[in-house]
Amino acid sequence: MPLMVNRHEEIAFELAEASSVMCIGALDTGKTTMARRLIETALAQNRSVGYVDSDIGNSSLGPPACVSLRVFRRSADLPRQFDSVSEPDALHFVGGISPERLVLQQVTATAALVEQARSEADMVVMDTSPMIAGVVGETLKYHKMELCRPEAVVALQRGGELEPVIGMIRRFFGGNVHTAPVEPEVRPSSPDERMGRRAERIMAAFAPPLDKWRVRTTVFAPTLPSGLDPSRLDGLLVGVHDTDGRCQGLGRLEVDDGNLKVLTNRGEGMQGLRLGSLRLDLGRGDVRPVNLRELMFGL
Ligand SMILES: Nc1ncnc2c1ncn2[C@@H]1O[C@H](COP(=O)(O)OP(=O)(O)OP(=O)(O)O)[C@@H](O)[C@H]1O
Ligand SMILES: [Mg+2]
Repeated sequence: MPLMVNRHEEIAFELAEASSVMCIGALDTGKTTMARRLIETALAQNRSVGYVDSDIGNSSLGPPACVSLRVFRRSADLPRQFDSVSEPDALHFVGGISPERLVLQQVTATAALVEQARSEADMVVMDTSPMIAGVVGETLKYHKMELCRPEAVVALQRGGELEPVIGMIRRFFGGNVHTAPVEPEVRPSSPDERMGRRAERIMAAFAPPLDKWRVRTTVFAPTLPSGLDPSRLDGLLVGVHDTDGRCQGLGRLEVDDGNLKVLTNRGEGMQGLRLGSLRLDLGRGDVRPVNLRELMFGL
């Protein structure tokens, strides 16, 4: 083993031959930087790597409200910043930016992309949302572990904040967990910076050329209740799916003269639309959560 300067490099080297690694940690703990290190180290050993980003709120790859996959085959493919990767290789729509009510959607999207990554690359590296504690955080991590079965977990923590979730992973999954403290150089981002980054990603997903397509009320999942006033859907985020059921990108529902339309740059070959739980303000690149059940049934 070459001389290592810190624990993070050491972990990346130890896991360079692993088949799959999940990075977990709270907000601003260096998860994405660790994921990059793992990818770099594996690529340097001529292994291809599928990077699955399941941080739906502050994704490093692809648009928010989605889980994304990008496969890197050689060191030259890896950009200095994931942000500069314009297109993920595959996308799964989750529909929201907070896992609170979306554990099922987030876990199935992640598991599907991990499976795809496994078939296309020698190694899978998973970046995750900062939700690591409490009932939602632990439930999310439990089911991600259950379906994705990473060979190893890298847990980056301040003090002992991850101990409960690490304990759970070890107890229920016999997990091979590598822990490390957060590096002192990690720079926390302010809420404004996060919102700014999210806005940029939303704008990138709605980059021109945008078209407005008239849509039938039967193309949605979940199905619209009959007699629903379409204006209730104005501004809603949707996932645009093609004839193979794959998510091609995002759209925004708009209502013109009572006609339902979708604004998107991914309309070619569109077959179905999945309703998200966010209302999208494209002027500000901002999203607000909505309760779909309330919106559809007024409950
Ligand atoms: N070892 C390091 N040296 C210098 N800067 C670092 C290091 N690790 C992380 N950073 C910086 O700290 C910031 C946060 O790191 P990173 O994005 O990896 O954390 P994260 O846990 O993925 O954050 P988030 O919760 O937003 O996803 C970034 O600006 C990153 O460039
Ligand atoms: Mg990150």
